[in-house]
This record gives sequence, structure tokens and C-alpha cells, in this order.
Amino acid sequence: FFISSDGSAVVEHTSQVVYLNDGELACIGPDGLHVTTTDAIPVHKEVTELEMTLEQIQLDGYEHHMLKEINEQPASLRDAMRGRMHQGQVWLGGLQVIDREWARCQRLMLTGCGTAWHAGLIGEYLFEELARIPTEVQYASELRYRNPIVEEGTLAVAISQSGETADTLAALHEVHTKGATVLGLVNAVGSTIARETDAGIYLHVGPEIGVASTKAFTAQVAVLTLMAIDLGRRRHLSAEYTAEILAELEQLPDKVAAALDLDAQCAALAKRLTERDNWLYMGRGINFPVALEGALKLKEISYIHAEGLHAAEMKHGPIALVDLDMPVIFVAALDSTYEKVLANIEEVNARGGRIIAIASKGDTRLEGLAEEVIYVPASHPLLSPILTTVPLQLIAYHAALERGHDVDKPRNLAKSVTVE
Ligand code: M6R
Repeated sequence: FFISSDGSAVVEHTSQVVYLNDGELACIGPDGLHVTTTDAIPVHKEVTELEMTLEQIQLDGYEHHMLKEINEQPASLRDAMRGRMHQGQVWLGGLQVIDREWARCQRLMLTGCGTAWHAGLIGEYLFEELARIPTEVQYASELRYRNPIVEEGTLAVAISQSGETADTLAALHEVHTKGATVLGLVNAVGSTIARETDAGIYLHVGPEIGVASTKAFTAQVAVLTLMAIDLGRRRHLSAEYTAEILAELEQLPDKVAAALDLDAQCAALAKRLTERDNWLYMGRGINFPVALEGALKLKEISYIHAEGLHAAEMKHGPIALVDLDMPVIFVAALDSTYEKVLANIEEVNARGGRIIAIASKGDTRLEGLAEEVIYVPASHPLLSPILTTVPLQLIAYHAALERGHDVDKPRNLAKSVTVE
């Protein structure tokens, strides 16, 4: 027998695992495994087959897991969407058990921490735009202590790669107790959040080993898009518009593969800017959470101070930070906020900031305004966050490498935050 806190630690030796719940004790002796409650009541445990292989957790020629996982995104997005789109419809089997509550939900509450929370913020735009459902997003750490209002028709979604984040788990218990149906959007199969929610949708992106979450994030956004389309279709979304977005989703893995070709440009950029100790990331609309995510990625692995800001909020204070040395990364996809972002870029330009723009291919208006433009493939505006995120992941990776840090195991951080 092996005892571990994660399947990836034992997959080299076995694929058969037993998951312990809170309040259970495992006793291993020459006569085998015995599980009881802490009150010594025997518990029968099922043996579960691990849904991961040794190959999935090996570096496979890459220098770091993070780089491998960034590069896996075309495949991981395909895996996350596989079997879930068919003939102009979305099919999410995990929702079957709560189909009634799902179809009738009046209000969505999305929760998670860190990168998962950023995915939730993008989800908010998606659900409101595609399904016209009032949606709120809360840090799980806030939600658990906030006395959240749960009414008839409130459906909560706990987003977590690991399925073990303590704050997210506590938040889901809190809203559960208050009567909400809780859905899990989780990657780790068999994890606590997956087991303790009323229903769940797995991401199916395989193990994510690097502490910095990358492929889980893009898959979370892709699955949230599918959920929003599904809910929208049950309400006002037309068959034509649904077909249009689904067709774009089908193309997304190839577009992400094209965005990965930006690696050399991102590496050169990171090298040039790595001496700068403070960076700003700005975005608006559905790409505002991408700015937050870009800044989080940079700070957690390169230890460079970075702030993600809503570009319109800049004039309410943060613009005072802009000087000739400040790298300012704008996410300027061709979405509904594009013209406004352009105006914000001009404001920073006038103050001498070093502007880097993440833009859509074919957009020619940023040349001359930005020190450098990184072009990602153009897409449906609602899907642009998945594409604009990729160069920001690469920039963070290369900046950390330039600074000589352990990219996969940044200081003071753990992959699963199982404490409050
Ligand atoms: O496993 P989870 O998705 O619940 O983890 C939540 C956060 O701890 C996680 O996303 C964290 O912010 C990442 N290290 C960010 O890259």
C-alpha cells in the first residue's frame, strides 16, 4: 500500500486507489487495509481506478511541467469539449442529475480561488450574455463567511482544478446548507469537491502538475462557455447563433496551437522587460479577467510585482504609476470594448508607458501606439479570452526562467491549497 495526498504520487506503482473522506481512518497492516470512522465504525470503501497515466505526469522532453501544460492546451481543450457538442447542440452529461434545477435556475453564483476565480469572472460575462441569467462571482474565501443570499432557483458552481481547495470546499458547504444546488467544475477526478457537489462536470484535461494553473484555466473557460450556451439555448439563444459559436469553439484548439507559435516573441519580450520590477496588465469587458490572470501568472512564478487592472479604472488612481519604465500590457482583442481600450492605450501612451498590446490578427490600429504588438488569431469576441491568455502564460513562464526561478514550484506556494 502507498499513502499519498494525490494520485500522481502513486501512479508509477498502481492505478487502484481508495479515497478517504473527512473523519475516516485507514489502518494498514499485514492483513490488508481497514477503514473506519473516527468512532471505530467500519466503512466499506470502493477501489477506484485512477484516471491518469504515468506518461501524463512525465515531462516528455519539456524543461518544465508548466511549459508542457501550456503546450498541451490544443489537446486539453479538445479533451474538455470532446463529446459535448453535437449537431448544433451542447451535451453535458454531468448536468443530467440536476437537469430540472439547471433548466429552472434563476440566478447563478460562481465561486473559486485564484485562477479558478478568474475563470468564474469570465463565466459571469458568458452566462449574462448568452443565457441572460443574473450571475455573481465570489471569492470562495469571501462567500464562506458572507452569509450569502440563497433563494429559490439559486444554483452555485464551485470551480476548482484540484477539487481540494479548502476555501472552495467550505463555500460550497455554506451555500449547500442554505439550500442551493451545487455543481462542481473540477479537473481532479474523485476529488473532494467532485464528491461533495450535487452534480459535476469534469474538465478532463489530465493532471496539472505545475503550480501555475494554465491548461485548467482555458478548459474551465471553455466548459463555462458550453454551460452558458446550453442554458441560453433553453431560453432565448437562437439556433443560428448557437451554431455560430459552436463552430468557433470547434476551431479553438487549432487557434490556440497558432497562438503557441508566439513563444519566441514572448520569450524575447520577457527577456527585454525582466529587469522591470513592476508591471501593469489592463483589460476591459470579458478580457478584464484575462488581465488579472496575466498579472497573477507573472507574480506567482517570476516574483515580479504585477497588477491586473480594469483599463477604465486607471484614471481613478493607478495611472499615477505610469512612467517611462512601466511595462503596461493591454489586452486589446476585437471585442465590444475594443474602441474604449484603444482610448486607454492612448492615455498611457501620452504618459510614456511601455505599452505591449495583445491584439487580434488583422488589427492594424495598434502599430505605432504600442512598443510591441502580439497578435493572437482572431475569434468570436466571447472566445477571445482563451486566446489572449496564451501569450500571457508564455510571458510569465519566460520571465520566471530569465530570473532563474523554479517555475514549477514557486516559493511559498502549493499546488493544492488545502488550508484556509
Ligand atoms: O485547485 P484550484 O483550482 O481550486 O486552485 C485555486 C487556486 O489556488 C489556483 O488557481 C492558484 O491561484 C494557482 N496557483 C494560480 O496559478
